[in-house]
Amino acid sequence: MAASSLLSLMFLISTLLLASSSLSVALSPTTFTIPLSPIFTKNQPSDPIKTLNSLASSSLTRAHHLKHPKSKPPLTKTKVFSHSYGGYSISLNFGTPPQTISFILDTGSSPVWFPCTSQYICIDCNIDPSKIPLFIPKLSSSSKFIDCQNPNCARISSSNPLSGCQGCNCSQACPYFFQYGLGSTLGLLLSETLDFLEKLFTNFLVGCSIFSTQQQSAGIVGFGRTPESLPSQLGLSKFSYCLISQRFDDTSESSDLVLYRGSSSDARTPGLGYTAFRKNPSFIPEYYYVDLLKVIVGSKSVNIPYKYLVPENNTNGNGGTIVDSGTTLTIMEKPIFDAVATAFEAEMVNFTRASAYVEALIGLNLCFNITGLKFEKIIFPELTFEFKGGAKLELPVVNYFVPVDVGNSSFVCLTLVTDSTVDSVGPAIILGNTQQQNFYVEFDLENDRFGFRKQNCNK
Ligand SMILES: *[C@@H]1O[C@H](CO)[C@@H](O)[C@H](O)[C@H]1NC(C)=O
Ligand SMILES: *[C@@H]1O[C@H](CO)[C@@H](O)[C@H](O)[C@H]1NC(C)=O
Ligand SMILES: *[C@@H]1O[C@H](CO)[C@@H](O)[C@H](O)[C@H]1NC(C)=O
Ligand SMILES: *[C@@H]1O[C@H](CO)[C@@H](O)[C@H](O)[C@H]1NC(C)=O
Ligand SMILES: *[C@@H]1O[C@H](CO)[C@@H](O)[C@H](O)[C@H]1NC(C)=O
Repeated sequence: MAASSLLSLMFLISTLLLASSSLSVALSPTTFTIPLSPIFTKNQPSDPIKTLNSLASSSLTRAHHLKHPKSKPPLTKTKVFSHSYGGYSISLNFGTPPQTISFILDTGSSPVWFPCTSQYICIDCNIDPSKIPLFIPKLSSSSKFIDCQNPNCARISSSNPLSGCQGCNCSQACPYFFQYGLGSTLGLLLSETLDFLEKLFTNFLVGCSIFSTQQQSAGIVGFGRTPESLPSQLGLSKFSYCLISQRFDDTSESSDLVLYRGSSSDARTPGLGYTAFRKNPSFIPEYYYVDLLKVIVGSKSVNIPYKYLVPENNTNGNGGTIVDSGTTLTIMEKPIFDAVATAFEAEMVNFTRASAYVEALIGLNLCFNITGLKFEKIIFPELTFEFKGGAKLELPVVNYFVPVDVGNSSFVCLTLVTDSTVDSVGPAIILGNTQQQNFYVEFDLENDRFGFRKQNCNK
């Protein structure tokens, strides 16, 4: 990074910090509540095996990217997954007068962008651009394109390779390119008003995308830790959500995403277990790291080498655990997964493990034949993630086992995944949204801690 762009970045961060701290003095604590809904298998085949297989593949593809956050986009096209996608979406209003756009809620990335202009192109997407609301800057009196001289442009390019003006300090609009595990998007950086009805936030930086690949929803709202994310731009002190059950279909049900501004002091929410966010490796500032200390299967703690549990503070940032609302199935690096799978096999000696063929067909790594038994009647070994500070995520069975029928046989499969192609760089464990279902979770940014409690999120 050039020294000059580093300077503008620092300038911008400091102005942002100043702006948000003065606001939080002026305002009493405020909350905004936004409905949060799952998005699954819109227009998709109702074949549960294909659904699971694609959820596993897409989780792994995303993991590859999360593990290489600074990598250049691959030269070859990434694999196309035409099947279902498991994510959660919210709607936000941008512009004057407001235009409503739907976004995937993503704690694993920071940029915020929407499909923009009537010319928007989306290749290999699960959505039809002609059928979704697109943001039209011309219809908004508060739309301003950011130009290359604006320090915000340097800020975007500093954290996203191939974005920014590539040395041109001119008056043209600032281009960006954001790469995700699944798909990518490119467009021009816009300053807009974000409208929560109760309150307007002006000069919000949002990407106006012209071209995207493999998107599952209209836009993506990044809740990551870097300055371009929604929590950073709004100066949130905390946000919380409760992900409703995934039934791999479209549902009109939703739960609440709640945004908090202003100091809430260090009061703990009743009933929540907390663990402190771990300080990020310097090269990976975007993710929410937590200190997972133990994975307990049944009554036994799985032996996981320490090196996998803490991230290294270098360019690879190997190891550690992150919480990601945008990953469907929890990813574990192979040695960790193998240890967990061995523990499950030991606890489930009364069941025959499925053949490698069946596991490959379903796309999950550990399945057992339960033919003749009812899933609901089986007593499965418990699965618990224990964090530093003692908070325990005791998972309901449906958060880690899924029943699948193949031919006349019935199986249950573990919904934690690994792959020998999952590189041993970047986070070793990515806690996905399937494992977060029916927990109320809190990202307490002010007190730098992650809290959760079991809760039925379906109203
Ligand atoms: C770009 O040009 C503007 C105005 O001419 C100047 O103030 C600024 O320092 C320049 N920025 C860089 C990175 O050269
Ligand atoms: C990582 O290293 C950098 C520079 O060596 C240091 O400033 C930073 O505090 C370290 N971060 C952690 C989490 O140890
Ligand atoms: C396996 O089955 C046997 C015989 O029904 C039973 O005694 C035993 O407790 C079972 N083991 C486990 C781990 O469920
Ligand atoms: C599953 O178990 C049942 C009963 O033991 C058996 O008949 C069936 O062949 C097994 N299925 C597979 C695919 O191995
Ligand atoms: C499943 O069972 C039915 C009857 O119970 C039988 O006709 C059919 O051939 C079986 N299919 C397979 C794949 O075994």
